Amino acid sequence: MRVQVVEHPLVAHKLTVLRKKETPSITFRQLTEELVMLLAYEATRDVAMEDVDIQTPVTSTTGRRLARPTPLVVPILRAGLGMLEGMVRMAPTAEVGFLGMARNEETLDIVTYAERLPADLTGRHVFVLDPMLATGGTLVESIRFLYERNASRVTCICLLAAPEGIERLERELEGVEVDLFVAAIDERLDENAYIVPGLGDAGDRLYGLAE
Ligand code: URA
Repeated sequence: MRVQVVEHPLVAHKLTVLRKKETPSITFRQLTEELVMLLAYEATRDVAMEDVDIQTPVTSTTGRRLARPTPLVVPILRAGLGMLEGMVRMAPTAEVGFLGMARNEETLDIVTYAERLPADLTGRHVFVLDPMLATGGTLVESIRFLYERNASRVTCICLLAAPEGIERLERELEGVEVDLFVAAIDERLDENAYIVPGLGDAGDRLYGLAE
């Protein structure tokens, strides 16, 4: 797995405001979108491109566009939805699929409770959006799910990651090609699997509701 922390003054500034507990939901949503746009800029740096013939007001020329089939953006429900708008603003021709994963509290297994994706992802570069890489359980299962559908490549964009989550991805997805882009890698997980210092529950902060 390749991990890239996107180090940029604007990312650091926005992330600091996002972390503050007094930042209201409306600002939190806006900052999440802006941060995703900055992360997406890096995460799409080597996306597949193709030539396209176009006509300018002056002459004909050959330009470049995102290759077909276009990338597929997959926000992981629920908090990943907060990252969708920023991502599709940066890649407007991308298609969007949805994946809902949750932990069965009895078996502790991750189960897929919602899924709206093409049945065959052959040739597709999939961008997974999940703000918090905490224990890594959801992301591991999501990546496996996408490769089982023959995705050609999976890139994950997260706002924050815990070292424990990154280690789990590396351990459980050894040999699987995954790129991970994050705004920061924090110190650790606490006893409730929250990222420390983190930003709290991303879903609650985006949408202001308890699960
Ligand atoms: N999910 C969150 O929303 N926050 C954390 O700190 C960990 C997981």
